Amino acid sequence: MSSPYEGRANKDASIVKQGTRSTLTPGTATGERTHTADAFLIGDSMTGGYGSGADILHDCTIAVEKGEIAVIVGPNGAGKSTGMKAVFGMLNLRKGAVRLDGEDITALTPQDRVAKGMAFVPQTSNIFTSMTVEENLEMGAFLRRDDISGTMAQVYDLFPILKDKRRQPAGELSGGQRQQVAVGRALMTQPTVLMLDEPTAGVSPIVMDELFDRIIEVARTGISILMVEQNARQALAIADKGYVLVQGRNAHTGTGKELLADPEVRRSFLGG
Ligand SMILES: Nc1ncnc2c1ncn2[C@@H]1O[C@H](COP(=O)(O)OP(=O)(O)OP(=O)(O)O)[C@@H](O)[C@H]1O
Ligand SMILES: [Mg+2]
Repeated sequence: MSSPYEGRANKDASIVKQGTRSTLTPGTATGERTHTADAFLIGDSMTGGYGSGADILHDCTIAVEKGEIAVIVGPNGAGKSTGMKAVFGMLNLRKGAVRLDGEDITALTPQDRVAKGMAFVPQTSNIFTSMTVEENLEMGAFLRRDDISGTMAQVYDLFPILKDKRRQPAGELSGGQRQQVAVGRALMTQPTVLMLDEPTAGVSPIVMDELFDRIIEVARTGISILMVEQNARQALAIADKGYVLVQGRNAHTGTGKELLADPEVRRSFLGG
């Protein structure tokens, strides 16, 4: 593999477990089937769309284990964001289920899912631009009734620039810094799962690298990361598990390493 990101991977531990129940993800990169039914967080065989419109997701499965990084890639309009919304409870599923730590949460509202430990940073409008950086972080903790100062200090440790700019309106920050605010705001809920839809959109390669390093750091604290990425090659290099979605379906599933090595995935999605 020629990727300069080789060796940066989180753990690259396959979440394939032997002898478990078998909700199966078809079309894996290795040609084997991947057992994910008992994953820490799973959107299992999800089918659904917006309102009464046509289905966007078709039997789509996305999962992540504790403290691991799962990455969703695929062409524009493939349903990556829709899959994230489905897992977060922003889409009515016609079929399938979402489970968190073994509990069926399919019927829960997004707010109830936040209370269960899920945090979601959407692709767009993910910060309050007229509020200061610190106010954004405080907003993130709105469900909490305990002392948030320790968590805020952790966020500032992770993203020191945010501490320097804490009194500035978030709208004045650079693209990369805004994404840090969005991730920091999500971390203020002390989530067990952090869902990120294109956290590196519009940032330079150096800033992207930085952000991926911080995301690895977050995963190492035991938080599961489920993220959508346009920078497929770099994101798969840090992924324990990767999902290639095409037209709302699972096209390829495997460890990040497997997908990066898969000739078909390389040719179709990674530019050779
Ligand atoms: N709010 C919505 N209402 C109706 N259809 C939608 C809505 N959002 C997305 N869609 C449709 O769902 C399909 C999948 O869109 P989605 O945004 O999930 O793709 P994506 O893989 O995230 O794409 P991108 O890489 O551009 O972010 C598209 O056909 C899109 O037009
Ligand atoms: Mg999207």
